[in-house]
Amino acid sequence: MTTTAESPHAAYFAFRDRLLGDLRTTVLNGEQLCEAGRLIYGRPEGLSLYGIPAPRMESAGIRLLGRTTIECCVDDYAVDVADALAELHGPLPYGGETPLLVDLFCGSGNFSHHLGTRLGITVHAAESDPDVHDATRHNLDRVGADTRLHLGDYGDLLGKLPARSDRDTYFVEPPWGPAFTPAGLDLTRTAPPVPRILDDITRSRAGRPCLIAVKTNDLIAHDSLDRAFTGAEHLRSITPPPVLPHGANMHFHLYRLGSGNDAHSR
Ligand SMILES: C[S@@+](CC[C@H](N)C(=O)[O-])C[C@H]1O[C@@H](n2cnc3c(N)ncnc32)[C@H](O)[C@@H]1O
Repeated sequence: MTTTAESPHAAYFAFRDRLLGDLRTTVLNGEQLCEAGRLIYGRPEGLSLYGIPAPRMESAGIRLLGRTTIECCVDDYAVDVADALAELHGPLPYGGETPLLVDLFCGSGNFSHHLGTRLGITVHAAESDPDVHDATRHNLDRVGADTRLHLGDYGDLLGKLPARSDRDTYFVEPPWGPAFTPAGLDLTRTAPPVPRILDDITRSRAGRPCLIAVKTNDLIAHDSLDRAFTGAEHLRSITPPPVLPHGANMHFHLYRLGSGNDAHSR
């Protein structure tokens, strides 16, 4: 979404366009990371991943590409999502088989990293962009994250991970691209579309129930969130206070998929 210099938050939108444009595969320096924190979250420390705020990222050896800087789920949000999911998972230790934690569109890997750390469970993650994969592999090694990162398509990873338990959890955050418009985020137009991803998850587990965490913005187009999750049980939404114009802030939604969910009704 490109905006004019007259709009309120013009600096944010101009920087966003650069992060997804000429800086897309550039590792940002300390100054750029702090600028991103200021413009996106109101303060440099607002951009924080793996427990490391922007002012310390460069010295900690964290490599963040332009695209991942705008696409990532920062610590404040990831911790809130992990808290909510941990509550739904119930008490540790697990009696039966350890549940799967799967981050299908890994990016920085921070979205799932916090739940994996919290539950002491290995995260399985897929990332198809080799540049993002390499930077994230480097970062996860740097912070000692227990994430098995696969370079490739989310569908290949799903094919390798049969269902283990009803508490298996999938993080779903595909690139928005043309799905992000002034009219809102259309989840049927992400790449790939969210309904197709949910069908693929359902198929990979032969319909066995699971938990899904999905990130959206705060303006959904065409009722596409409800339509994508038709038949699923909405468990919780996490809606951090807005810092950007309506439509540019992040929301997170937790669902139980399966148990009566009809994938074909989506
Ligand atoms: C919106 S970002 C995810 C950000 C992530 N949740 C985080 O906290 O950093 C989407 C990521 O999915 C990757 N991706 C796109 N298509 C994919 C596919 N088919 N399979 C796996 N990864 C894919 C992109 O390269 C991008 O890094």
